Amino acid sequence: METIILDANSPENVKRCAEEIRRGGLVALPTETVYGLGANALNEKAVLDIFSVKGRPGDNPLIVHVASRDEVLPLVSVIPDVFEILAETFWPGPLTLVMQKSPEVPAIVTAGLDTVAIRVPGHPAALALLETCGCPIAAPSANPSGRPSPTTALHVKNDLDGRIPFILDGGDCRVGLESTVLDITGEVPRILRPGGVTYDELAAIVKEVDIAGVTDASDCPHRASDDPPRSPGMKYRHYAPKAPLTAVLGTPDESAEYIKLRMGDKVAALMFDDHAFDHPNVVTYGRSVDHEAQAARLFGALRMLDGMDISEIYAQTPDESGLGHAVANRIKKAAGKNIVDLSG
Ligand code: TXA
Ligand code: MG
Repeated sequence: METIILDANSPENVKRCAEEIRRGGLVALPTETVYGLGANALNEKAVLDIFSVKGRPGDNPLIVHVASRDEVLPLVSVIPDVFEILAETFWPGPLTLVMQKSPEVPAIVTAGLDTVAIRVPGHPAALALLETCGCPIAAPSANPSGRPSPTTALHVKNDLDGRIPFILDGGDCRVGLESTVLDITGEVPRILRPGGVTYDELAAIVKEVDIAGVTDASDCPHRASDDPPRSPGMKYRHYAPKAPLTAVLGTPDESAEYIKLRMGDKVAALMFDDHAFDHPNVVTYGRSVDHEAQAARLFGALRMLDGMDISEIYAQTPDESGLGHAVANRIKKAAGKNIVDLSG
């Protein structure tokens, strides 16, 4: 199968992709966070194909994308009180809400869980596609499982060429890393995965926000409890470039100093623009204080490192304020156990 990239600005192309989804096929679609690998969420066979194309473990549930708030109703059995204000404030946008599922949602979508994750994406092409195909679209990030997520149509083409018919090209993803996954089934809304909507933005809208325990306490500055991870996806190594990556935590000056001392022919560095030094293996991803730029450039930078002849990567890791929380989370996930904390 040849994978064709279609310009999302053409309504004809959106229609072609919508037809493909309606007939049970897969289409890569742009969202404001990352590109998704979409299929009709109500078609079990199509959803099964998502898992096989991605090589995704069957116990990791998918996010269901809908065109508007009204389309959530048939998919859930309970609408929690906080739903209305959260949807009103953050949708369309990078917030995914986990609620009790209705029988309408196939078990394969939710990996057998009794909850379903839903969002209205904030990219006009994603919304146009959803409106045109008239069904909810299940879509994980459009990368092979475990690898950095795609933020351009070319990233998807590099990853999935020959495995899907169409990539709807909506340009570079504005946010650049995935949505925040928020569980609203309990008394206090709980962040299962940090993402495009920050803790502070959520805390300004709902009285209390909790953060699920991730692999270790340093992952989450706002962490409030000790529970095991509840978002199944968070337990896997993720977002990983090919060469082993070490996340270096501390002030930007400290981490830059640490990395500089370790550079070599086969060693690469992922650096803030304002701390980069002159070396052929340095890749930058935004100024140290600019978490928005870091989010937008991180996955592209990891992919660039994959194109280099290196055997080791050191990454400057941002402080965890605002969107820095999600950026640091992705870098630490990519690092696995290789984390150096210079702050003592
Ligand atoms: O920004 C995004 O969220 C992108 C775009 C395409 O929308 N999608 C995305 O999907 O990142 P994926 O499959 O790469 O990540 C989905 C995350 C996983 O960590 C998964 O475990 C979690 O959401 N998740 C899905 N359904 C869940 C549920 N019912 N309960 C808890 N976590 C859930
Ligand atoms: Mg993913």
